Amino acid sequence: MKPYSLRRRLLLWLLLATALLGLVALLDTWREALRTAQSVSDRVLVGSALAIAERVTVDQFGGLEVDIPFSSLEMLTSTAQDKVFYRVDGPVGSFLTGYPDLAVTADTPGGIAFTDGTYRSVDIRSATLTREVSTGARSIPFSVTVAESTRARAALARAILVRSALRLGLLILGVAVIVWVAVTVALRPLERLGEAIAERSPGDLRPVTADTPEEVEALVNAINSFMARLGTALDGLRNFTGNASHQLRTPLAVVRTQLALLDRSAAPGPVTDASAKARTALERAERVLAQLLVLARVDASSGAAVLAPVDVVAVAKGVTAELVPAALQNDIDLGFEGAGTALATADKVLLAELLNNLLTNAITYAGHGAIVTVRVTNTPVTVEVEDNGPGLTAAQMDQARQTRHGIARPLPSLHKGAATGMGLGLAIAAEISALFGATISFDQARSGSGLLVRITFPT
Ligand SMILES: Nc1ncnc2c1ncn2[C@@H]1O[C@H](COP(=O)(O)OP(=O)(O)OP(=O)(O)O)[C@@H](O)[C@H]1O
Ligand SMILES: [Mg+2]
Repeated sequence: MKPYSLRRRLLLWLLLATALLGLVALLDTWREALRTAQSVSDRVLVGSALAIAERVTVDQFGGLEVDIPFSSLEMLTSTAQDKVFYRVDGPVGSFLTGYPDLAVTADTPGGIAFTDGTYRSVDIRSATLTREVSTGARSIPFSVTVAESTRARAALARAILVRSALRLGLLILGVAVIVWVAVTVALRPLERLGEAIAERSPGDLRPVTADTPEEVEALVNAINSFMARLGTALDGLRNFTGNASHQLRTPLAVVRTQLALLDRSAAPGPVTDASAKARTALERAERVLAQLLVLARVDASSGAAVLAPVDVVAVAKGVTAELVPAALQNDIDLGFEGAGTALATADKVLLAELLNNLLTNAITYAGHGAIVTVRVTNTPVTVEVEDNGPGLTAAQMDQARQTRHGIARPLPSLHKGAATGMGLGLAIAAEISALFGATISFDQARSGSGLLVRITFPT
């Protein structure tokens, strides 16, 4: 589970808050329901007690007499399960009629008092009404107690509670759905921002201008200032590579001249042997510098592309011709296939550099007697360099394919100690192809062994 899902957090907090508030509301509803049920049934209790009190009369012996109107008790039994009890008492606790073991609430002369209790192990609510009946000469006090079991009341309150709880559950469910949808909608600008950044080319460090809500502005500003700093750092690095390579050329040229002088003045022997080795090392260093300069140039052009239609046939033919002497030296059969013109958007110098790298590789690594072919075709414009040497292993091919624009990842050279072998050639080829918007592919040669590199230009 991802710890920082905004959606999950919002859901959790809102649901928790809703559930808490809901519980409080539920408690309140429960209390209110109880109170309402009680006040309704209390009123009925009072009505019944009054109805009975009205039937209390003085008999001919001056005692009290009561004729219970059962209709007044009937109106109490709101449900079949509820039971009704009553008793009527004369002055000073003289029991007149009803249930003698029913408790009488403490006297409140002339008024009515309520209590909750149990009677015959049933929860009851009882009301005791105190009244007086007049004989003309004196008044005789009496009390009427009416009690009703509370099942109906409790059932009513429970029903109200259950309905409220159901409503609360639905509310929480509704909140969850709303939050889910709302978060999705609210987070869309962030997604758009992410897409806007993701679909950029790696070299594109311009400020992000996507339409974003205020809350995200700080983030966008941070990204933009980061991009600006990154751009400055990259520029610095580019300039450094370019400048360093350039600066190193002059001293290397001086070393080369000095070596030539040394060769001329020294007799063949240990000294000339040493100078020959030094020259080999010098050539390697110069090649690396040249490659680094090309990389710096590719980097510099990737900002403001200065591409124009180039005849790929002409450039490829030129590079092939240039490398014929090297091929002859390595006993390589170097051929060219392609006629007419094949126009593609590119840069002449960089395209030549790209092909030069591929051809040099083929000439260097394909082995003596190998056949190397440069092939240019039209619609779409492609240029292939194919050899019948050992080729690349699957892993090496994968690595070559993964060399992406912006990340020149040199291939670890297999041929340690070979003439070149700095591992920049294929990375440069990939970089330049990406700059042209062309795709570069590495495959096994058609003959079965050997490497086939194909650059396909966009139509
Ligand atoms: N046509 C090929 N046949 C066989 N192996 C190759 C071929 N092309 C490249 N390789 C292998 O891939 C490695 C990387 O090639 P890459 O051109 O990137 O660097 P490099 O030739 O070693 O050095 P650089 O080109 O910078 O002078 C080479 O060292 C070689 O082992
Ligand atoms: Mg190479």
